[in-house]
Amino acid sequence: MTTTQDPAAAAERCTPEFRRNPHPVYEHLRDNQPVCPMKPPHGIDTYLITRYEDARAALSDPRLSKDMYGAMDAYRRIFGDSSVALDDHMLNADAPKHTRLRKLVNSGFTPRRVEALRPKIQGITDMLLDACPKREAFDLLPAFAFPLPITVICELLGVPQDERSDVQTWSTTVAQTGFSEESKRAQQQAEESLHRYFSDLIARKRSHPEEDLLSALTEARDKDGGLTENELVSTAFLLMFAGHKTTAYLIGNAVQHLLSHPAQLRAVQDDPELMGRAVEEVLRYDGSVESATFRFATEDVEMSGTRIPKGSLVQIAITSANRDPRKFDSPDEFDVSRPDNAQNAHVGFGNGSHYCLGAPLARMETQIALTSLLGRFPRLAFADPAQEPAWLQVPFPAFRGLSALPVVLEP
Ligand code: HEM
Repeated sequence: MTTTQDPAAAAERCTPEFRRNPHPVYEHLRDNQPVCPMKPPHGIDTYLITRYEDARAALSDPRLSKDMYGAMDAYRRIFGDSSVALDDHMLNADAPKHTRLRKLVNSGFTPRRVEALRPKIQGITDMLLDACPKREAFDLLPAFAFPLPITVICELLGVPQDERSDVQTWSTTVAQTGFSEESKRAQQQAEESLHRYFSDLIARKRSHPEEDLLSALTEARDKDGGLTENELVSTAFLLMFAGHKTTAYLIGNAVQHLLSHPAQLRAVQDDPELMGRAVEEVLRYDGSVESATFRFATEDVEMSGTRIPKGSLVQIAITSANRDPRKFDSPDEFDVSRPDNAQNAHVGFGNGSHYCLGAPLARMETQIALTSLLGRFPRLAFADPAQEPAWLQVPFPAFRGLSALPVVLEP
């Protein structure tokens, strides 16, 4: 089967070939069918957007709604009933509800608040690197890339240390998007466990408030009625969910591409000041969010000559937009020294009112992770340089990441 012969079908099915390298399919779609009609397994008419300018416009177009209660029927067909209890949060809402919920959480994520977390993040990073095996092959993802962001978000929210591994297991299960009955059942159970867990944790924060984000949000609920109990539980879930795999996969993708491009790796090692740009280039070249979350058309929308009928779902391929030659020079080149303005133009964190709330945190975590890893282990290497990268095989392309990253740490 060749994906390039049937790009629309490939984009729907996510064949192993597509997962390994989606770029030829996306290039074909950008050139030939930039707003491509699809019939995904859930059966609802969906349009896939692949060009940069269309993607930016669609991400912030108020006619493309994020209010899942306006599309409840479609939503239940895609995700089932159970997630509804956890999904009453800003990413599933339009203004004014979106504005209200985002404002409540925003204060925890300002650049200043995030900067204050730096010593803590550095400490967690050092501890994880201390514990990694040395001079022998091991998988960097479970040993380093995954525990770092989950520990940081648990610290931020105030999840006690001995309860973190359960939370991590449940959120991993929830993120394993699948359409089979078995995978839906597993997700449902994990969602119920998370719902119970966060409801209980909020009750504890209520009676014993601490210096953490969940205590602050609980106070906002109780004192000012700023959000409902269900919105509170859902917001805790969103932060856990949105801040975990995204950052973990980005760290993995960064290591994968730096090790595969020795001249770029050397440039970063010779000039650590380049690290900020290198992280932006990874977000552009192979960021960890392949598709933005669903939008649905509240009226007919015209885009690049295609009519998206009212009621359709819209999927925005961030991975494709960030490689659009209409926007980026030599987009398929991984170049950590791209001019600043080109790098910051990527849509790896989205665009518009739903632009990633955690972007400053994700940037800082990834920069600290890479600087520490490469600083302590300058001869970091693939365990088997001849081995093909193990890109995630998922039935729905929400994340772009690796399923394993075997490396050797040489001090
Ligand atoms: C490299 C890591 C990350 C990437 C690539 C990423 C990417 C994104 C993207 C593309 C969106 C927009 C989705 C859409 O419009 O459909 C988004 C939204 C969001 N992200 Fe991130 N994210 C990352 C890390 C984080 C972290 C660490 C947090 C918080 C702890 C976070 C919290 C959020 C939240 C709350 C939203 C929803 C914002 C809203 O609806 O207003 N993200 N993220």
